[in-house]
Amino acid sequence: MNTWRNQSVLSSAEWTPELLRPLLDLALVYKKAIAHKEDVRIEKQVSCLTLFYEPSTRTRLSFESAAHRLGMQVLSVANAGHDSSAFKGETLEDTGKILSAYADLIIMRHPEVGSVKRLSENSSVPVINAGDGAGEHPTQALLDLFTIEEVFGNLRGLHVGLCGDLKYGRTVHSLLRLLLQFGCKVTAIAPPELAFPNFETQGSLQEVLPSLDVLYMTRVQKERFQDLELYERVKANYSLSYSDLSRAKKTLKILHPLPRVNELDGAIDGDFRAHYFQQAANGVPVRMAILSQILL
Ligand code: CP
Repeated sequence: MNTWRNQSVLSSAEWTPELLRPLLDLALVYKKAIAHKEDVRIEKQVSCLTLFYEPSTRTRLSFESAAHRLGMQVLSVANAGHDSSAFKGETLEDTGKILSAYADLIIMRHPEVGSVKRLSENSSVPVINAGDGAGEHPTQALLDLFTIEEVFGNLRGLHVGLCGDLKYGRTVHSLLRLLLQFGCKVTAIAPPELAFPNFETQGSLQEVLPSLDVLYMTRVQKERFQDLELYERVKANYSLSYSDLSRAKKTLKILHPLPRVNELDGAIDGDFRAHYFQQAANGVPVRMAILSQILL
């Protein structure tokens, strides 16, 4: 039975390892199919619509790439605050009612926590949360999980460090509970101003680094700060330089949801421990798995 059919994806809190296993396995099938340039178009005539009120490179385009590869029709609004009737004052509730008639699935990003849920409550088609402010980004967490499993072959027992902006970083909000559910040990590393709201957080990356199997770096989310002085104070606190890697395990894997600013030294890109470009590429097969399971 496909429990994903016609379901919205709003939060990773709705997920269990049992629910995710078929998706992770299907994503691997799609990844191999992409590598072999196989035709994976589905027969059903379905369409999806990306509605993004905030900028995006990876999420919107990997969703659209995934949909095109599956043979779906794609409608796209990339700057919805300006280029949709939101600019004229239309509510999210009305937008949800209208767009439900135009596509079989809506993929939405918006700066307000809870906004995607609000739209979904007024939509007759499923809605995917592609990031709601500092809330959640569940499909990013799924591709993060897929990447860690891909490089290690398993998840249980791995020591994962989540580092940087754990207060405003929506990817880590969705990822933390998945890592714990899949049996990882998680250490949260951030200054007190950027700590997780409900998970013990410690301050020193240098102290934790030698024991980590995975280091998941995050950008300090400048756009969420009301106090820009605070942003300037904390932004340089947590960065990884190439020389830091001398203290890390040879088997460490470095991830980052990207985009990065200055928290991840470009000199690391060529190191065998850098996996963030592989992680970004995995957005396509993982999102193919999500789209196909919801719409088939
Ligand atoms: N990781 C991520 O959400 O990237 P974009 O903001 O480019 O979509």
